[in-house]
Amino acid sequence: MSALLEIAGLELAYGQVAVCRNISLRLDRGEIVALIGANGAGKSTTLRAIAGLLSPRRGTIAFGGRDVTALPSYERSKLGIALVPEGRRVFPFLTVRENLELGGFNSRKDPSTLKRRMERVFAMFPRLSERSSQNAGTLSGGEQQMLALGRAMMSEPQLLCLDEPSLGLAPIIVHDIFQTIRAINAAGTSILLVEQNARHAFETAQRGYVLQTGSVIASGSCATLKRDPRVQEAYLGRTATRR
Ligand SMILES: Nc1ncnc2c1ncn2[C@@H]1O[C@H](COP(=O)(O)OP(=O)(O)OP(=O)(O)O)[C@@H](O)[C@H]1O
Ligand SMILES: [Mg+2]
Repeated sequence: MSALLEIAGLELAYGQVAVCRNISLRLDRGEIVALIGANGAGKSTTLRAIAGLLSPRRGTIAFGGRDVTALPSYERSKLGIALVPEGRRVFPFLTVRENLELGGFNSRKDPSTLKRRMERVFAMFPRLSERSSQNAGTLSGGEQQMLALGRAMMSEPQLLCLDEPSLGLAPIIVHDIFQTIRAINAAGTSILLVEQNARHAFETAQRGYVLQTGSVIASGSCATLKRDPRVQEAYLGRTATRR
């Protein structure tokens, strides 16, 4: 397998405040890789750096074998990196269809591609199709998460970075969302999954990284991570050993 994403020695800061120190991680083509960690560990910050929304102080980000560390976010989007941000961030006063069109901006001059992508998203999320002329702000939380996912898929990314897709959703909806994430992956998109719910993350991903106060403290296959006492204590609770 070849690395699709390779991060080496990344240091991230907001102004003078260092948030991530020396983060290295790798994601191979076709993989789902989980990034877990407590509140404030630096998960969203890491995703923002991958998407090009935050310039690293130090370290490199390579995508598809190319150094993208200095590229602006729209260039990274063109190369195939998409981010579904924490809290969905759909445009509330635009319709579902308009939100999706914005996600497909890299094919805006090619109506047939845009149409094909939109049909694919509507096939994935029939609910969005039914509500295509509804303002996004009036969708339920679960529907907004579907829209955020669909909007990212409109760019036909190679790498989909998901920031806490399950946050605030009812268990049944969470189940649906994770099923969709697996289907997107099975259709060929690699996924970097940030999750506070380690149990869901480990069920979905093949490998994972554990972030603690801005550093990777453990990494490996999800099966190995599940058995790691530090991970069990901090993220899985005591029931983990019985699963
Ligand atoms: N724009 C910002 N300016 C200054 N500090 C920030 C900013 N955004 C995040 N931070 C700080 O960076 C640290 C890491 O934040 P980050 O959002 O990456 O954590 P996280 O792991 O995603 O947490 P959560 O699980 O709560 O989403 C936190 O201490 C946070 O206060
Ligand atoms: Mg976060």
